[in-house]
Order: sequence, then C-alpha cells, then structure tokens
Amino acid sequence: MGTYPASRRRFWPGLVPIFAIVVVVGEIAFLVRLDMAEKATMVQNWTNSFSFPSSFAPRRSGALPSGSARHVLEEEEEEENRRCREWLEREDSVFYSRNFDEDPVLVAGANQDWSSCSVGCKFGFPDSKIPDATFGLSTNPATATVHRSMESSQYYMENNIRLARRRGYSIIMTTSLSSDVPVGYFSWAEYDIMAPLQPKTAEDHAAAFISNCGARNFRLQALEMLEKLDIKIDSYGSCHRNHDGDVDKVDTLKKYKFSLAFENSNEEDYVTEKFFQSLVAGSVPVVVGAPNIRDFAPSIDSFLHIRKLEDVNAVAKTMKYLAANPAAFNKTLSWKFDGPSDSFNALVDMAAVHSSCRLCIYLATKIQDKEEASARFKNRPCKCKSKAGSLLYHLYVRERGRFKTESVFLSSRNVSLKALESAVLAKFKSINHAPIWKSERPKSIRGGDELRLYRIYPVGLTQREALYGFRFGTDSALQKHIDDHPCSKFEVIFV
Ligand SMILES: *[C@@H]1O[C@H](CO)[C@@H](O)[C@H](O)[C@H]1NC(C)=O
Ligand SMILES: *[C@@H]1O[C@H](CO)[C@@H](O)[C@H](O)[C@H]1NC(C)=O
Ligand SMILES: *[C@@H]1O[C@H](CO)[C@@H](O)[C@H](O)[C@H]1NC(C)=O
Repeated sequence: MGTYPASRRRFWPGLVPIFAIVVVVGEIAFLVRLDMAEKATMVQNWTNSFSFPSSFAPRRSGALPSGSARHVLEEEEEEENRRCREWLEREDSVFYSRNFDEDPVLVAGANQDWSSCSVGCKFGFPDSKIPDATFGLSTNPATATVHRSMESSQYYMENNIRLARRRGYSIIMTTSLSSDVPVGYFSWAEYDIMAPLQPKTAEDHAAAFISNCGARNFRLQALEMLEKLDIKIDSYGSCHRNHDGDVDKVDTLKKYKFSLAFENSNEEDYVTEKFFQSLVAGSVPVVVGAPNIRDFAPSIDSFLHIRKLEDVNAVAKTMKYLAANPAAFNKTLSWKFDGPSDSFNALVDMAAVHSSCRLCIYLATKIQDKEEASARFKNRPCKCKSKAGSLLYHLYVRERGRFKTESVFLSSRNVSLKALESAVLAKFKSINHAPIWKSERPKSIRGGDELRLYRIYPVGLTQREALYGFRFGTDSALQKHIDDHPCSKFEVIFV
C-alpha cells in the first residue's frame, strides 16, 4: 500500500501561501458535500493526516462554499492526483533485467523476415546462444517448444491443443483461437475483403472449388443433396467437376451469387481461404465447416450455414429465394456498403501483427511475468492513498499486438468498467495513439482519428476468451481483479 512518503510533504512549506489557501477553501467545499454522519470522522482523519502551518489554520465555521471554492477544491484534488500519479510511476517502474531491444527474444528452428515487431525479436538458427523458444521439441528445459500448424486437428491429431501439450509443447500456434498464439487464414493484407461487388453474370446459382471429395465431414453428401434439390452448381474443383478448373478463383466467384465454402472438417475456428475468398468476391458463402462460423462473418446475415445434413433443405430454399429476390440478396451483402461488424474487424485486426511477432510478444510477456514474481516487483506500491481516503490504482495497459504498456490510473471512488474504459481512452488519446491496424485495414473502414475501445481484458487471456468469452461482469469483479493483481496488466482492442 502506498501513501505519500513523508519527504514529499516537506515540500509544502515552500508553497504555503497558495497551498494553504487552496486547502482551506477546498476543505470547506468538500465537507459540505459529505453526509453529516461522515463529517466528524472525516474532519478527524484530515486533521490527523495534515499539519497546517499555524498561521493558516483552517477556520471551519463561516463561509458556505461558493462556486469558486468548489473549483479550487477540484484543482486541489487534481494536484494531489497528479503528484500521486508521478509518485506511482516512479515507484512502480522497477527495471526488468532483460532489455529486449538489446537482447531480443530468440526463436530457433525457422526463419522470419521482419517488417517490424513491437518487441525485439529474432528468428534463426543460432549455434551459440540458448534460444528462448524453438519450433519442434527441445531437450533444453530453458527453451520453450513451439508447435505451429494451420491444419485441422481432425486430420492432424497433434494439432489438438491438449494432445500437443501432452506431447511436451509449451506454446501452441494453430487456427484455434484458444491456442496460445493463433494463426488464422484471415488478414486484411491477404484478402481484399472490401473489394467492390461485380454484377452477378453467372446463370447458375453457385460455384464450388472442392478439390477432394473425400472429407471427414458430410460435405460431399451436402453437395449431392443441393444438386438433387435443383441448386445449379458450377464445380471447378476435382470433386464433381463440370467446369474447367484453370481459372482465377476469386474472379470466377465474383460472378456467382453463392459460393460453396465447404471445409474438409467441422472444427471450431477452422475457417480457410474458401470462406474469405467468397467474402472478397461478394459471393454469399454457403458454409459446411466451423460450428462457430458466425464469429468469422462480417455480419450476421452474410452467410448460410449447413450445420448438419438436415439443414440442406432449408438452405436450398433460402438460396432459391435470395437468387430470385435481388433486394433480399443485396441485403445479405450490405456489409460491403456499410462495413463489417466491430466483432469481425476486431478478429481480422489480430492478423495485422504477424503471428511470429505475436509469438515474440507472448514469449517476452512470459519472461517478464516470471520476473514479476520476485520481491523487487512484489514490493511495488501499485496504489496510493489520498488525504480524503480514496485510492488511486496504478494499472498498465497495452494494445493487443504491441508489447509496451502505458500507465493508467483508476480511482477507488469509481471502479467500474466504464471508468476504466474512459481512463484508458483518455490516456491513449493523450499520446495520440494510432491503432495497430491503421495501415492494414482497407481505407473505407479505417475511420478517422477517433479511438474506440472494443474490449479490455487481463493480459494472458486467449483470443477466444478475449473476443468472445471474457467480461468483467460486475464492478466488484473488476475491483477484485485489481485487488488480487497489484499493478494489473490489461490489453485493449480498439476498433
Ligand atoms: C477515517 O480513517 C479510518 C481509519 O484510518 C477509516 O477506517 C475511516 O474509513 C476514515 N473515514 C473516512 C470518512 O474517510
Ligand atoms: C444494395 O444495397 C446498398 C445499400 O446497402 C445500396 O447502396 C446499393 O445500391 C444496392 N444495390 C442494388 C443493386 O440494389
Ligand atoms: C464513473 O465513471 C464513469 C466513466 O467516466 C462516469 O460516467 C460515471 O458518472 C462515474 N460514476 C461516478 C459515481 O462518479
């Protein structure tokens, strides 16, 4: 627990003329705002914690607070808070023994060319230094072992997170948003998702690019059922091919109202280029695949989902209806005009930072977490008490995809999600923070210079939790988190 060190108060006599008046007038104003019941103890507390220079002793009887007295009170509080913040920033800034600028995170077993990463990060095949992490298993316990794959765990068992951990991997990178460092197929850079629509000139309803008829889900049966229900399908892949497949996939899809985005397995978060290319083309994806495909869609009505074979009839009906009703069909693509949902942007923005850089941020965070268990860090004050008895909590906040944190302060008078969000926004606005996706997103959905906060969560959550699961449900849950984690670290997602 931090209170001002006595030495700070010793500066006061030098400032007596202004300060004492501020304090006296401020105190009177403050007292009037208190409940009568609290008044007595408060006066006691104040006189205990203060020693006024005798000539400026407070006169408690007399003048009621005027508007200007209240103003002075606010200034006094602000001044106290300012000194409190400065003190905390100084006291809490314990140095980490490793400076990643000079001694970057070292990952062995793969090469990676950087454009940039917010933490020192080096890939390669060092022969002298012990790396922080390596792709594949390692015999050195000081080296974290990374398993990375973009295949479905229904085909490659080792991609199952639990199995991979049991096999000895400490860091899992798969398409699963529950993995430590997710690697997705999606990104603004790879897919021109906001590409303008083109006229739907193809006579048939849907295009399919399915290369392998044998899959571990029901995609082949779904395809055959759609055909039987008289959905006209132009198939360019080797499965049920009826068209020459030597075409540009996205250009071809643009001509079709629908695209059969049939994955080879129905696995959570396993959403491949089949889906994202359909979005680029503005061809409504008819999905067999991830049960949570909705999380990956730019709007709730932008796709059709065959969850199980029993859905095929209804989906075929909807396809026929949409194909025959231009206005209704256009509505399914309204996100192309109005922009995708915040939830979609927040997901795709994750990929604005390369997965290898996100791995380094993950590793560097773990390295610092470990060091924070030491006494040097445990002894940080992390909060400071004002004369009025309220606390100012020191929190550290960073943007997802960046390593460096900013100091944010939260008063115990208002520990609420709203107050936290507004303190975070104020801080990041004050440093003219530009969101990490700013240069990545298509211009049409970049917005202006305003910052909007989409999610805030404790550092260390998976992206599945951060984006879809976690919320501080109540103010007391937030209070408890801050109490349990002095100098709490949070991550924010701006949209
Ligand atoms: C006064 O101080 C006591 C002990 O420090 C504390 O329990 C009490 O809440 C304080 N009263 C007010 C009104 O701040
Ligand atoms: C489709 O809807 C958008 C608005 O969402 C509108 O701007 C556009 O003109 C419509 N296009 C057609 C062909 O109706
Ligand atoms: C708490 O902070 C929020 C956000 O700044 C504000 O809207 C709200 O009025 C504050 N509540 C109190 C009791 O001060």
